[in-house]
Amino acid sequence: MMQAILDLRSDTVTQPTDEMREVMMRAEVGDDVFSDDPSINSLEKFAAEYFEKEAALFVVSGTQSNLCALLAHCQRGDEYIVGQNAHTYKYEGGGAAVLGSIQPQPLEHLPDSTIDISKIKAAIKPDDSHFARTRLICLENTIGGKIISQEYINQVYEIAKEAGLGFHLDGARLLNAAVGQSLSASQIAKPFDSVSICLSKGLGAPVGSVLLGDKSFIKSARRWRKVLGGGTRQAGFLAAAGEYALKNNVERLAEDHKNAEELAKLLTAIGLDVSGHETNMVFVNITDAMVVSLGRFMEDRGVLLHVRGKGLRIVLHLGIRRDDVDYIVSCFTDYIRQSDE
Ligand SMILES: Cc1ncc(COP(=O)(O)O)c(C=O)c1O
Repeated sequence: MMQAILDLRSDTVTQPTDEMREVMMRAEVGDDVFSDDPSINSLEKFAAEYFEKEAALFVVSGTQSNLCALLAHCQRGDEYIVGQNAHTYKYEGGGAAVLGSIQPQPLEHLPDSTIDISKIKAAIKPDDSHFARTRLICLENTIGGKIISQEYINQVYEIAKEAGLGFHLDGARLLNAAVGQSLSASQIAKPFDSVSICLSKGLGAPVGSVLLGDKSFIKSARRWRKVLGGGTRQAGFLAAAGEYALKNNVERLAEDHKNAEELAKLLTAIGLDVSGHETNMVFVNITDAMVVSLGRFMEDRGVLLHVRGKGLRIVLHLGIRRDDVDYIVSCFTDYIRQSDE
């Protein structure tokens, strides 16, 4: 395979920049299981202040972050209400059920990726030994690149509070949601008892997430992180990259959103069936023939796509500049031309 030049499969593929590598190299480290790593302590303090929550916990991945949150909110035999397509339910190996004996209650999404409010209310179980105990509602923002409105989040918050439930946000891409609607990150985080943020997606850090919440919640999550094998030692090199990302790579997410908008416009102009663009993602409906041959054709030109079916997701990130968008469109144009010959 030739060296990939433009990798559009996900925003998880970013390479640390020279400046980030420099910061990592100079990071002071210690044993984090003893809370002795200055760089991890610094990231946790910075993140708690940035998102205006009492405390933060550095974890190795978004999956571990969500799982620590679910384990801290719920006991064995409890359940959480979650969207059918939510990452915590669909793409995390069923971790809550496998490792926590926590039952998910998945609900269908509406076309805008929210869940019908009346369905959430109806899914909350009465206190009756026939049922699992409903403990938590879990949302995701952005979800499939879509921003969930604050108005909707506040409605779900009211339901959660009225029923005495916890409220968790998988905010892997919360900062895309913040930049996409010019809101502060802490405004989006505010209604939630806990929030998980990925540092290794659009923000460009190589590894890591932070989980946020109040002090007692984070204390419990820290314990679960250790149980899950996620207590690390001199991992401050990674936390330093994460803090650098939070300090330097948030505003620039707007460029990814602009590039996604531009790419969607240009791909539509050359006749592709673009079904939409949301924050840093573009969605294209492709034909059966394209499913078979598009990925290879683009890869031969140094463009990596994740072709899994007829709905193609293209993800923009800090490794893709505005000029690259033109090159990507020219590759699609060549593909269409050679298919027509
Ligand atoms: C919305 C969302 N949440 C959580 C995760 C999990 O993150 P990780 O891959 O770091 O486990 C992902 C990963 O793509 C994601 O897209």
